[in-house]
Amino acid sequence: MTSSPSATDQVRVARLCENLLDRWDSMFHETVDPTRFRRMNAILRCVGKGPRGSARFLDLGSGPGPMSRRLLRRFSNCHVVAIDTDPVMLEVGRWAMDRTNRRVQWILRDLRGRDWPSLLRTKRFDVVVSSLALHWLEEEQIEDVYRGVARLLRPDGFLVNGDYLPRAIPGKPPRRPTCAHTGAKLPLDRDLASFKALWRGWWSAVSSEPLLQGALAKRRVRMPGAIPPRRTTGPRNPASLEFHERALRRVGFREVRVPWQEGDFRVLVALR
Ligand SMILES: C[S@@+](CC[C@H](N)C(=O)[O-])C[C@H]1O[C@@H](n2cnc3c(N)ncnc32)[C@H](O)[C@@H]1O
Repeated sequence: MTSSPSATDQVRVARLCENLLDRWDSMFHETVDPTRFRRMNAILRCVGKGPRGSARFLDLGSGPGPMSRRLLRRFSNCHVVAIDTDPVMLEVGRWAMDRTNRRVQWILRDLRGRDWPSLLRTKRFDVVVSSLALHWLEEEQIEDVYRGVARLLRPDGFLVNGDYLPRAIPGKPPRRPTCAHTGAKLPLDRDLASFKALWRGWWSAVSSEPLLQGALAKRRVRMPGAIPPRRTTGPRNPASLEFHERALRRVGFREVRVPWQEGDFRVLVALR
């Protein structure tokens, strides 16, 4: 039987994870995701036009919870269900927010499996959000995810997906990211090198914390591969904006709009 961690250990790991969550945001924003903060604010503005009070939000591909944390701070009575396939992401998020916020539930699920919607305890959501996550999925899997989202949203509920969503160019696969400010290809070598250094540092901090070893062990079984992880799955080219729009309509969303865009990073809103 494992004993529960001492109060001192709990404070240490919580502080580390709060720091890891802050670093997560800046690691992306300062290197390969320069539109990140504006895009996430745009997601919040879209959500802000929706439900108030004790709204229920679902965050798909939550990572350690940068979007969930923003929702919890903005909507004081809301509840968030954060889903991710990586046990380390969820554990870092849980420790980072546990001291300040218990209105979030962390769920380990692979969005590529079709059963994740039926396995959730909460069956109705007001808004489903996703930030920089669905580009990890193949087109067919994205459509399945949207089908699941349509089932989970209340009537008049909506989805807000902020991601790299390039326009389709006939006859060509969607382009890889370009920087919204310079038009240069992303990741730039310089940005990528900085990102890799920060990424190594982030995972090294995770790996040196005794109370995160359980999540790391779970990760090794679920997602074998090196730490720091390298991208080994997912499509070679991301699904286009047009594909997302068509898929959303096919699964029953009645209105699809793009209220925010910088370069090929867009926020897509779909009304149930
Ligand atoms: C770039 S991170 C984005 C995290 C966070 N939403 C953000 O805005 O920073 C992509 C996240 O998607 C998660 N992810 C990738 N494939 C997934 C899948 N099949 N099921 C669930 N989560 C997945 C990864 O584990 C990772 O946490």
